[in-house]
Amino acid sequence: MDSKIRKGIWNCTIALLMALVFATAAPTAGGQTPTVKTKPGNKGQAEQKRNQAEVKDWWKNAVIYEIYPRSFQDTNGDGLGDLNGITERLDYLKELGVDAIWLTPVYPSPQVDFGYDISDYKNIDPQYGTLADFDRLVAEAGKRHIRVLMDMVMNHTSDQHEWFLESRSSRDNPYRDWYVWHDGKVDRATGKTVPPNNWQSLFGHSAWEWDAKTRQYYYHKFYIQQPDVNWHNPQVHAAFEDVAHFWLKRGVGGFRFDAITTLYEDPSLADEGVVRDKDGKVIINAYGDPQLDGSKTDNQPGLHPVMQEMRAATDKFNLETFPGTRVLIGETYLPNIEELTKMYGPPGKPEFHLPMDTQVAFINKLDVATFRSKLIDAETHLSAHIPLLLFDNHDNPRLDMRYGDGVHDEDIQRVLATILFASRGAALFYYGDEIGMKTTPPERKQDVKDPIGITGWPREKGRDGERTPMQWDASAQAGFTTGTPWLPVPPSAQTINVAAQKKDPYSLLAWYQSLIRLKKTVPAFERGANIMLDVENTNVLSWLRQAPGAAQVVVCVNFTAEPQTVNLATGGAGIGPRHVKTLLKTPGAADPQSLRAIKLGPFGVYMGEVQ
Ligand code: GLC
Repeated sequence: MDSKIRKGIWNCTIALLMALVFATAAPTAGGQTPTVKTKPGNKGQAEQKRNQAEVKDWWKNAVIYEIYPRSFQDTNGDGLGDLNGITERLDYLKELGVDAIWLTPVYPSPQVDFGYDISDYKNIDPQYGTLADFDRLVAEAGKRHIRVLMDMVMNHTSDQHEWFLESRSSRDNPYRDWYVWHDGKVDRATGKTVPPNNWQSLFGHSAWEWDAKTRQYYYHKFYIQQPDVNWHNPQVHAAFEDVAHFWLKRGVGGFRFDAITTLYEDPSLADEGVVRDKDGKVIINAYGDPQLDGSKTDNQPGLHPVMQEMRAATDKFNLETFPGTRVLIGETYLPNIEELTKMYGPPGKPEFHLPMDTQVAFINKLDVATFRSKLIDAETHLSAHIPLLLFDNHDNPRLDMRYGDGVHDEDIQRVLATILFASRGAALFYYGDEIGMKTTPPERKQDVKDPIGITGWPREKGRDGERTPMQWDASAQAGFTTGTPWLPVPPSAQTINVAAQKKDPYSLLAWYQSLIRLKKTVPAFERGANIMLDVENTNVLSWLRQAPGAAQVVVCVNFTAEPQTVNLATGGAGIGPRHVKTLLKTPGAADPQSLRAIKLGPFGVYMGEVQ
C-alpha cells in the first residue's frame, strides 16, 4: 500500500481510538494536586485564580528529583529498594524542596535492564511492592505537594510481555505486527541467512535477533530481551495511551518518556554509515563493533506525531478531571539545539513540556565558553519554551567522574548545582547528587550487574557505579537496608551521607537546600530571563536574572582552582557599579562592596541582589 495512504489511515484510526479511550476518562482516584472543584469561599476569586495558575504552571520552575527505586531505600531487608522506602523518605524530599519525583520503572519486569524491560505496564513489580503501596506513595507525596512521575517506556517491551509472547508464537498471530519483524537476507559468499542490515544495538552487536520458530528477525535497539515495538501499528498507539491513562487516573503528575528518539526506524532498512576518526580509521566502540552514525534508527520524524497524540491525550485528561498540568518529560539525547527545539512541537501541536537539555548536561568539561554558549542557546533558541536542565542520571558516571578534579570535587558540585538551580527553567537532579555521592564502578568483571558492563568490560564497565545505594548514614549498609544490598555500599559512605551533612550548615546538602529555596522565593529566579555577563571571561561564568518588577540578581561561578575577581559593573547589561546584597556565597567568602569587584575563591560561587 502507498505509504501516504497508510499514514492517513493510521492517523484516522489513532484519532478514533484515542477518542474512545479518553471519552471514558473517570475522575481521578489518587489526586495529588489540590482540586479547584471547591467553592471560592472566603478566599476570594482572585486568590483562587492565582492558585489555579500556580497549579497549572508548577512545572515551569520545577525541581524534579530522579529516584532509582532499587537503590533508594529498602524496607523489607531484601537488599533492594522499594516503594514503601520512598514513602518513608518523603519528609526528607520535602525538606530538600522538590516538587516532583521521577521513578525509573517499577513495573513487573524480568529485570534484565533493571526495569526497563517491562512485562506488564499496569502493575507494580512485587520486588517494589503493590499497587496499594503505589497509591499510598502518591497520596502521601500529594500531602507534601510532591508529584510522582512515572517512566514511560514505549520503544520496547520485555520479551516476556504477553504481546511479544503472542507476537513470536506465529507469523499470523494478531500481535505479530506489534513488533518489528523482518526477513533476513542471503549472504552471497556463504549462502547463509544474515540480518537485513548492519544496524546495531546500543548495548552491543547486531540489533537483529533470529527467531528460529517463525524464521524471521526481530529488531531490538537495546538488549535482545527488549524487542522494539512497531509504531506503524495503530493498535500500539492505543495500547500505550491506555497505559498512560491507567496511571493518570491513579494520580501521577506526568511521565518521563524513555528512549523516545529511537521509536522509529527508517523503513528503507538501508545500512547506517560507519563513523571514522580524523585519519579516516573506523572507530571501534567498547563492544568491539564499528561505530555507526545512527542515521536510520535515531531521531526519525515519526516520533513527533506520536508525542503530539500523547500530549493531546494528557492535556484532555488535565482539562476534564482536575487542574494541574501532568507534565511530559523527554529523554532527548540530540545532536543540537535545533533538534531539541523540535521536541516542544510545532505551533499549535505541542509535544513535550520538558525535553531534557542534554546539550548542557553532557558537556563533561568545565569549559566556561561552552557552558556560556549552551546556556545562551537554552535561553534564546528554544522559542520561549522552558528548558529542562540536568547534569546527571542513572545512565552516566556521576558528577565527580565527569566534572571533578579529585581535589575540589565538592566545590565543583556547588558550581554545577548553582548553574542548575539559578538558571531559568526546570531543574532535574539525580538521587545522591545533593550529598556528592561518588561514582563507584565494580572493580572485577565478576561483580558487574549491568549486562553492558559484562559485554563491554573493561572499556565499558556498565552503569552499576552510578546506581549504588543511597547513603543515608555512616552505618554498615548506609541506612539503605538491613540485609545485603544488591550493589555494595561505597566506602565513601562513611563520610558522605545525609546524616552527617544534615548536621553541617555548610554541607553540600545545605547548599542544595539553599539554592532550591532561592529558586522558589526570589522573584528574579522564579521568572527572570538569563542574561550572560562579562562574556569574554574564560575563567568565570557570570549571569544576570532579570524579570519585570523584580530586583535583579547576579550569579558568578569560578570554573578554576585559582582565585578570581570579576568586575560586573562593566560586564554588560548596563547594570553599572551598583551595590550588591549577598544571597548566597561559598562558605568563607567575603561580601563584595559593589559589582566592581566580586572575589571568588577556587571554584567559588557568589550570588547577590543588585541594589
Ligand atoms: C534509557 C534508560 C536506560 C535504559 C534504556 C533502555 O536510555 O535511561 O537506563 O537502559 O533506555 O530502556
